[in-house]
Amino acid sequence: MRLNAYLARAGIASRRGSDDLIKEGRVKVNEELGQLNTYIHTGDRVEVDGEPVAAQSLVYVLLYKPWATVTTARDPRGRRTVVELVSAVPERIVPVGRLDADTTGALLLTNDGPLAHRLAHPRYGVEKVYEADVEGEPDDAALRRLAAGLELDDGLTAPAEVRRLAPSKIELTLHEGRKHQVKRMCAAVGHPVVRLHRSRYAGLTLEGLEPGRWRELEPSEVNRLSLRPEPPPR
Ligand code: URA
Repeated sequence: MRLNAYLARAGIASRRGSDDLIKEGRVKVNEELGQLNTYIHTGDRVEVDGEPVAAQSLVYVLLYKPWATVTTARDPRGRRTVVELVSAVPERIVPVGRLDADTTGALLLTNDGPLAHRLAHPRYGVEKVYEADVEGEPDDAALRRLAAGLELDDGLTAPAEVRRLAPSKIELTLHEGRKHQVKRMCAAVGHPVVRLHRSRYAGLTLEGLEPGRWRELEPSEVNRLSLRPEPPPR
């Protein structure tokens, strides 16, 4: 792992902040000055300002994101951030992907950078299940259009699974995650979203969690996420 990622995972600073520490000559690896391109291997001794740095263990948290919280690190409008909601976790964990401020539901946070990168990468097609309350009552033709793929301003959406849960409520299972995707898809078929909830992320459900609460993943759940098959080469 790169030195800046190692320092970030150890909670010393963000990756960019760690780069600054390295450039300022405050980081040593095995008694030598660390460089921006230094890689850390098991057993290496890393020090910042002469103090040894202990690598943090990897943490995986599933949060039931409540309404009116933001997935960014800070909000200029002063809304609560999801990172604040998990502040009892001592490690520096960050959300995997984003949910809109007014979307509720399953959000994974971790300090496992490589796994977060894989899960968020469109090539891996992680399954996301959304429940959308919408304006009006979408008919079968609208559901078929949502399922088949729609032309949005950033291109055609991939095929999705779509179910009617109630006259004005639909469930969409997507394997991609573009910005505001569900809202844009529903608006494109004439049924803007009134309320959006993610009930499932990569097979993880919110069972047993209340809005605003979180739990650590079981080792078996982490294994299942980590062992996701590689996508076929394109
Ligand atoms: N699609 C959206 O429109 N918003 C979200 O928060 C997630 C998916």
